[in-house]
Amino acid sequence: MARHLITSAIPYINGIKHLGNLVGSQLPADLYARYLRQRGHEVLFLCATDEHGTPAELAAAKAGKPVAEYCAEMWQVQSDLADGFRLSFDHFGRSSSPQNHRLTQHFAKVLDEAGLIREVTEQQMYSPTEGRFLPDRYIEGTCPNCGFDSARGDQCDNCTKQLDPVDLINPHSSVSGATDLEMRETKHLHLRQSQMKAQLEEWIDTREGWPVLTTSIAKKWLTDGDGLQDRGITRDLDWGVAVQRGDDPWPGMEGKVFYVWFDAPIEYIACAQEWVDAEKGSDWQRWWRTDKGAGDVTYTQFMGKDNVPFHTLSFPATILGSGEPWKLVDYIKSFNYLNYDGGQFSTSRGRGVFMDQALEILPPDYWRWWLLSHVPETSDSEFTWENFQQSVNKDLADVLGNFASRVTKFCRSKFGETVPEAGTQGPEEARLIATLTEKLREYEAHMEAIEIRKSAAALRAIWVLGNEYLQDAAPWSTFKEDPDRAAMQIRLALNLIRFYAVISAPFIPDASGQLLEAMKAENADWPEDVETALGALPGGHAFTVPEVTFRKITDAEREDWQTRFAGVRS
Ligand code: 2FM
Ligand code: ZN
Repeated sequence: MARHLITSAIPYINGIKHLGNLVGSQLPADLYARYLRQRGHEVLFLCATDEHGTPAELAAAKAGKPVAEYCAEMWQVQSDLADGFRLSFDHFGRSSSPQNHRLTQHFAKVLDEAGLIREVTEQQMYSPTEGRFLPDRYIEGTCPNCGFDSARGDQCDNCTKQLDPVDLINPHSSVSGATDLEMRETKHLHLRQSQMKAQLEEWIDTREGWPVLTTSIAKKWLTDGDGLQDRGITRDLDWGVAVQRGDDPWPGMEGKVFYVWFDAPIEYIACAQEWVDAEKGSDWQRWWRTDKGAGDVTYTQFMGKDNVPFHTLSFPATILGSGEPWKLVDYIKSFNYLNYDGGQFSTSRGRGVFMDQALEILPPDYWRWWLLSHVPETSDSEFTWENFQQSVNKDLADVLGNFASRVTKFCRSKFGETVPEAGTQGPEEARLIATLTEKLREYEAHMEAIEIRKSAAALRAIWVLGNEYLQDAAPWSTFKEDPDRAAMQIRLALNLIRFYAVISAPFIPDASGQLLEAMKAENADWPEDVETALGALPGGHAFTVPEVTFRKITDAEREDWQTRFAGVRS
């Protein structure tokens, strides 16, 4: 039994996430956490909401609510949706928690003591009307490059050119519309990442077996252009972690907060503290401090590819730079993007299917199965309604669901609702057990390596084996000449249902639970030995016929959803 710390990238608070977000970190992280728990490992699986930064402030303003109130409400919405998709976090925290405030201020202090923070005097846009410095994103104007009239201070959304607010023609505040902006001198803190280039490079180079996607992105950032840049870690916002040195004020930094990407990953640690403070656990240091027992923890992070630089360079710079014995990540699993029906999913444009909408039309397992078996692992992948319908109808309804229904109904009609006792297994059954064993070991190896598509394919192949056996054995015909043999075949098939329920649980936990309940299975342990596992329900054991496990998606439904989700969510 090993100890596994698992974190999923923490989703921004501003709005409900779409299926592309879900499949890009939370859902695969859940699959892995569920699998490891089932294999008997000790797992701490953490996620939270990422609540600071301009997007949160702007979303709250748009909703006409104080930002703290907006965040509290949206945390609840995201938490309920996580439950709806059966994401089995040990704790779903908040980056705005007091624990994260304290820990972020602590890191700033120790980084400063290590000489890794420098105060930089900069010119920045100031709005006398609002009495504040404006972050780049809060300034709008005409793009000097393409003439687009709503370009932001940091970037033009029309031509994608990176901008400086001073470049904008007719700059004004996007909050108040004020045009009397002027440049004023102000101070910010920079983290001297450039000082840590060699240390980070060495750390990346010694990571064994990391996915190519992860290391290639990290290397690119380390060596491209001028290499690793120092980075501003403070912003002029009200909402966020106040810039302090631990508990002490930081003279000259009054009214400023830490940059959201500085405090967000620190929430991974603070979340474990929240977990303890919520009385769900008793010792967070055992997971996070190598001097307090975290030395034998394996830490795996899940995220989309756009997050990789922050997790391979920025956050490790915080951790290594602190000089304190914090646990560093052991393995980073990153993902490409999921596209939606010929374009991109987009939160800002409301394009695609969002988590709440998905659950309104179908239960979570349908989505979990499709998303995980089509996860954008080696390249971007695409959601289409045709493909979704086909996968659900074939894999879930025809292959798995139908197997459970046929077997239990046939048994009920011929032998009643107890596992039949007669008959002994022959060479066909021995062959099936051998093939199942081989496939199961393959499935386990893929799950351990977090090769999700391969895992899904192996699992599906195991379901198919049961169907093929049933087709060949044909107990409905055997029954006429040799009822004892048919009884043995059905006993095996009933046991296969329980076996499938156990090994499919990481992918489709609800269906798994339903089937285990129908089979009245007391033992849901991972099958170490397939032959033993297929004897878990002995002759005489009572069961019931399950309700429909997976229903088919009709063409009419598919067309309806296709139209309904073709536009833009308001
Ligand atoms: O890309 C995102 O959704 C970010 N909110 C992820 C942050 S992950 C971490 F560093 F906390
Ligand atoms: Zn432009």
